[in-house]
Amino acid sequence: MSYTKISDKEYIANTYNRFDLEIVKGKGEFVWDENGKEYIDLSTGIAVNAFGHADEQIIDAATKQMKNFFHTSNLYYTNPCVTLAKLLTEKTGMKKVFFSNSGAEANECAIKAAREWAFVNKGEEYYNIITLKNSFHGRTITTLSATGQDVFHEKFLPLTQGFLYAQPNCADDMEKLLKENKCAAIMIETVQGEGGVIPLDEDYVKSLIELSEKYNVLIICDEVQTGNGRTGKLYGYMHYDFVPDIVSTAKGLGGGLPIGATMLGEKVKDVYKPGSHGSTFGGNPVCCAAAVNVISRIDDELLEEVCKKSEYIKKELSCAEGVVSVTGRGFMLGVETKKNASDVVKKCMEFGVLVITAKTKVRILPPLNICQQSLEKSVKIIKKAIAEA
Ligand SMILES: Cc1ncc(COP(=O)(O)O)c(C=O)c1O
Repeated sequence: MSYTKISDKEYIANTYNRFDLEIVKGKGEFVWDENGKEYIDLSTGIAVNAFGHADEQIIDAATKQMKNFFHTSNLYYTNPCVTLAKLLTEKTGMKKVFFSNSGAEANECAIKAAREWAFVNKGEEYYNIITLKNSFHGRTITTLSATGQDVFHEKFLPLTQGFLYAQPNCADDMEKLLKENKCAAIMIETVQGEGGVIPLDEDYVKSLIELSEKYNVLIICDEVQTGNGRTGKLYGYMHYDFVPDIVSTAKGLGGGLPIGATMLGEKVKDVYKPGSHGSTFGGNPVCCAAAVNVISRIDDELLEEVCKKSEYIKKELSCAEGVVSVTGRGFMLGVETKKNASDVVKKCMEFGVLVITAKTKVRILPPLNICQQSLEKSVKIIKKAIAEA
């Protein structure tokens, strides 16, 4: 066992079930382990490396900013931060942005914005936020509380008050909760990622929009995983032809550098006042410069490619021996296999492809710019792994 692996077990908090693999180098869709073995990485750091590893353009954007200055406080104006905010608002129809460092923080900001909006516009008792069962919104105590899965709550009680959980794809259940409780917002993932790569039905989202108007509640889209091109649109909500009130995102936004963003729509754009919220590292100029590069490159042409290649993966795998179903959108796909998903993932790794699980599914999250040749090679290997696991 390598020095890194032995020392990791001794010095790193025991929160991760790591694979027996040390990554020592990456380039594009490829990574190499400590023994020089090459892998095609279809896990992308869990939907983070939007343009693969060590992308030259992101390196240039970040190093140019790094050579200038890496950090200053939010007490001063900086250009990369506002350039990114302008780009995001122009591409989404949202109005203002708060920057943080992770998905959980982006959701914390979204939750606080919804509560502040309801406090001012509806009354202080309208603090409840309805999320969906089987959702995942983060690991801080409040975003864990928002997460609609008991398994994440055990041992961390008491949770933050004010979260209710509705059955996904059941508008009646949502309406019942809205009727019986004083609510600020509904919070959804358009594709439940950690919950097993399950997209929300189109009719259901339409009903949620109607219900949000009827009960005067905000819609928050957690686009931490679905955002930044992952589903074949810039943001997952764009598949449903509406503009949410709040959009949170992170993961792919910085292409591998840590950044979170909470985008505020018309109704909530001015809800925050100086002192309402803040973050020391939020809006870090190096991360923002990288994110400007990432968001500028996610154009219609790239998104069309993602959709085309996604159809290829779906077509190839849905009729493969041992596959029960393929769910998801774009480059966020979940493959239900007859064999145990963890065994399939291990076999894929043995054969040189990195994929991960999502509940009982094999999750495939390729870089947005992966070439067709690598994709074809990966699909062949995944099929072989399913057969031999
Ligand atoms: C939908 C969603 N929200 C929030 C998070 C939390 O993001 P982070 O780990 O960056 O805090 C995740 C992470 O997997 C996620 O998938």
